[in-house]
Amino acid sequence: MTQQTRIFSGIQPTNNLTVGNYLGAIKNWVSLQSQGQSNENQVENLFCIVDLHAITVPQDPTLLHKATLETAATYLASGINPKQSSIFIQSHVRAHTELAWLLSCMTPMGWLNRMTQFKDKAGKNREKAGLGLYAYPTLMAADILLYQTTHVPVGDDQKQHVEMTRDLAQSFNHHYNEDTFTIPEPVIQGEAKRIMSLRDGTKKMSKSDPSGFSRIHLTDSPEDIAQKIKKAKTDLAPLPDSIVELEDRPEAKNLITLYAAFQNMTIDSALKNVAGQNFASFKPQLTEVIISALTPIRENIATYMNDQSELMDILNNGSEKASHIAEKTINDVKETMGFVKENN
Ligand code: TYM
Repeated sequence: MTQQTRIFSGIQPTNNLTVGNYLGAIKNWVSLQSQGQSNENQVENLFCIVDLHAITVPQDPTLLHKATLETAATYLASGINPKQSSIFIQSHVRAHTELAWLLSCMTPMGWLNRMTQFKDKAGKNREKAGLGLYAYPTLMAADILLYQTTHVPVGDDQKQHVEMTRDLAQSFNHHYNEDTFTIPEPVIQGEAKRIMSLRDGTKKMSKSDPSGFSRIHLTDSPEDIAQKIKKAKTDLAPLPDSIVELEDRPEAKNLITLYAAFQNMTIDSALKNVAGQNFASFKPQLTEVIISALTPIRENIATYMNDQSELMDILNNGSEKASHIAEKTINDVKETMGFVKENN
């Protein structure tokens, strides 16, 4: 990594987080955090709970409140260390909404029309979808650009949004002929770039899928995990010994991906352990692997949620540090755009 690496990423506090969020995002944040520690150059990590994104679809206030704190607890429980990374709530740093407005005036509607996540989420109800859901990629661009982010570790589904962020930053810099924004790179790594639904291997595992059996939450009990894996869709063939033979077996590929990713293995080396087995013998092993990885995380989340004073201290500290960086960017952007500075 180059000098002054700055890593930013976030998760929406909607419902409990899934193993998709963990393997596709948080687990990679933890490894980037430790790589940063061993790097002589300065690496700064910012991990945000993006509550302003959550309200792009209707939320119950009590559930939003709980999910916001639980998402923060999950970052910590999974190994994000507040001494090495700032953890903060998006709505605590007002510059996010301010920059989002400034950038929205420069975002062509044609770009937003191409965003697949809007099409998926709005579905047939396009006319009734809120403006926020449509404008969401601009808020995400503001999140990233506010911190002069160099690297954005995300799952595969967010790639298009990070690419739009790059386009917006380039277009702003070009329009004002200044290097106001750093151009961020998406970081999409590991075997679990896109974990699929346990009910349908062609659909992404999602916090908002109507079927609870489609996903495993990080707070699921061992019994729930065992039951969900037992019911997970599979096919009749035994497991092969190479990944190419899984190409047209999406459910089998997804389960072996979970098995590999939770053990930090490549899919090919995981297949060497289980090739030739059928699902009746593979599923209990997968269940064990998931339960042993998630049990300490679930217990740590409960500890942070039972006494929230430590959690709140960490979040306050995080937003203070984040605000410091954000204020500088927003002031620079406004000056570049020609806004008159307050005189105080
Ligand atoms: P969200 O909340 O949907 O998901 C959070 C992170 O989890 C990843 N992810 C997955 N990875 C693999 N398999 C899956 N099934 C899976 N489901 C989710 C996502 O790719 C993401 O990395 N727009 C973002 C949140 C956001 C953000 C940002 C991210 C807002 N501002 C700035 C990075 C930088 C979102 O809705 O993620």
